[in-house]
Amino acid sequence: MSPFLVTRTLPEDATDAALRADVLTGLARTPKSLPPKWFYDARGSELFEEITALPEYYPTRAEREILVDRAPEIAAATGARTLVELGSGSSEKTRHLLDALTDLHTYVPVDVSESALTQAGEALAAGRPGLNVHALIADFTAGLELPDTPGPRLVAFLGGTIGNLLPDERAAFLASVRSLLSPGDALLLGTDLVKDESVLVAAYDDGAGVTAAFNKNVLSVVNRELGADFDPGQFTHVALWDPEREWIEMRLRARSALTVKIPALDLAVDFARGEEMRTEVSAKFRQEGVRAELAAAALGLTHWWTDSRGRFALSLSTAR
Ligand code: AVJ
Repeated sequence: MSPFLVTRTLPEDATDAALRADVLTGLARTPKSLPPKWFYDARGSELFEEITALPEYYPTRAEREILVDRAPEIAAATGARTLVELGSGSSEKTRHLLDALTDLHTYVPVDVSESALTQAGEALAAGRPGLNVHALIADFTAGLELPDTPGPRLVAFLGGTIGNLLPDERAAFLASVRSLLSPGDALLLGTDLVKDESVLVAAYDDGAGVTAAFNKNVLSVVNRELGADFDPGQFTHVALWDPEREWIEMRLRARSALTVKIPALDLAVDFARGEEMRTEVSAKFRQEGVRAELAAAALGLTHWWTDSRGRFALSLSTAR
């Protein structure tokens, strides 16, 4: 195998078709909603990077602290020869894991963003001679096919992104991850934890307004890709905590009654004054809930590590 390979399993036009379908169904339903994956065009990815540096947004720093402290234990517990990282993005935090996994044969970053994969993959392949990097341009919620590489396999899904999935979607996702693993292979999962409401809400409604800009960016994506005429200035950013479902919701609230035209879908969508459209769910977890969701997918929790302030957890589970 050459040191750096890229495989596309996502057809070039699949993204456009998926966006159209999501906008069509999401804006037709009541209440309106758009899935959070559409935040991440080049501008949205840049804004997310800015979010990770905000004083209010602790998850990235908390997870990095755990990775730095526990990478040797993760390496010892898994003995991984293949590391698969789902939603790898810039692969920045992964470096700590890669450095500790001394027996690693192949790193498989998986992302829908080709530019992020190529940049990160080339840098990693250059920095670690002998390591094979096989990047996959793929939608990991859709059913993956992994290259044939030596086990044990470790699949990492970091950042707390699993919180973007609704409970039934999480069950389906964990089952599909389990199907990539053989008995003894492992999953390293990042989950943000339930904590004081004020801390959670501040993390999603920062003082500098970066999260508000990130939230409204989805409107710019729909404008550019589908020719829509959303005026981001006509919407306000809303972040709220749902104590029953234990998740943060981000919404966009229409400042006045308005109609948005979406030519590519031949659609006109009415918003009432004050109407709110859900743009993200970010679920927060407890150890017992994570353990139960893993068990339902035939994954047995073996390790649970949190940062020193107990804000974020990394769990390691093994395929049964
Ligand atoms: C990248 C999905 C983990 O839910 O905290 C950050 C995205 N949204 N601020 C999260 C996000 C608003 C983030 N994840």
